[in-house]
Amino acid sequence: MKKIPVIIDCDPGHDDMMALVLAYGSGKLDIRAVTTVAGNNTIANTTQNALNVLHYIGADGIPVAMGYQDPMVRSHKEQMELLAASRKKMRPQAAAPATGITGAAVHGKTGMDGFDFPESNPKTPADLRSVEMMAKVLRESQEPITLIATGPLTNLGFLIRLYPHLLSKIQRISLMGGTSEFVLTRQFMEFNTFVDPEATKIVFESGIPITMYGYDVTYRVLFNQSTIDRLRALGNNTGNMVADLLSYFRSSHNRSLSRLNLGDTAPIHDACAVAGVIDPSVVTDVRKMHVDINVGGSLLDGATVCDYQGALESLPKNVDVVYNMDTERFLTMLVEAAGACK
Ligand code: RIB
Ligand code: CA
Repeated sequence: MKKIPVIIDCDPGHDDMMALVLAYGSGKLDIRAVTTVAGNNTIANTTQNALNVLHYIGADGIPVAMGYQDPMVRSHKEQMELLAASRKKMRPQAAAPATGITGAAVHGKTGMDGFDFPESNPKTPADLRSVEMMAKVLRESQEPITLIATGPLTNLGFLIRLYPHLLSKIQRISLMGGTSEFVLTRQFMEFNTFVDPEATKIVFESGIPITMYGYDVTYRVLFNQSTIDRLRALGNNTGNMVADLLSYFRSSHNRSLSRLNLGDTAPIHDACAVAGVIDPSVVTDVRKMHVDINVGGSLLDGATVCDYQGALESLPKNVDVVYNMDTERFLTMLVEAAGACK
């Protein structure tokens, strides 16, 4: 069966790592390029993490193009300070994030703590930067490309602004981001849309078909200890690396968000946006609706305002919002993909 051509834009990140392993190990996707963005950590760290994962699983042939440190308008540092202030304002009694104010509270100081990759990684970033690489792949492709975005949407925002003539080459954007629940149900906005709300607004208003995998689905399809045991039972390097990183992520995520009481389970947010491209039938509940994005530097930055009752009849139903997936099939896809890697 012909592979689906994709570009993966990510900010590794433990769940971005899972997205990359699933995309490569599935054997169903033709990964034309991986591009990086700052989010869970600095652009230097997210890029190095992407290089380490791809080299370790045997995917050296996939180019990695480095993105930029800051979102389109405010700096990454400013946005992280706004995030910390928002958390304090929304839940004054909550403890400050454990470490720093980037995603370090959950992903650790390197952005992907929990596994020591071999020091000697010959893989280096491509000469082209992220947005130029995206444009090159789109320009040269004989067929439309699916963009899979698992971090803040800065690169996609710039692509849409700088290369409008190439947008017809984009089949669909499958993104992890947002939530359709009333956004103040959580201590803060969904991270990816919060970090670069202006880029998110550009993407959601672009007219490109979008499938949105937000917290509504990613906090429903959770992995557990059995998943980790199945990964270890594979007996290969990738299985053990994924098991180590998911174990680390589960403990730091559940410590940082203890009030969710997740027990031995935890989300793998970004892998959801890949699974739905590989096999759309794994998605069991998806609804088309208008989604608007809040911008302007407030504690509601990046809020995905979802018209899930169709009240705003005159506005375009621009997004397919995913509410649920077949968890067992999803987790089996992850384990089988890891088993197909080195
Ligand atoms: O809110 C979850 C998202 O933020 C995931 O993409 C995770 O990797 C972080 O980037
Ligand atoms: Ca991510």
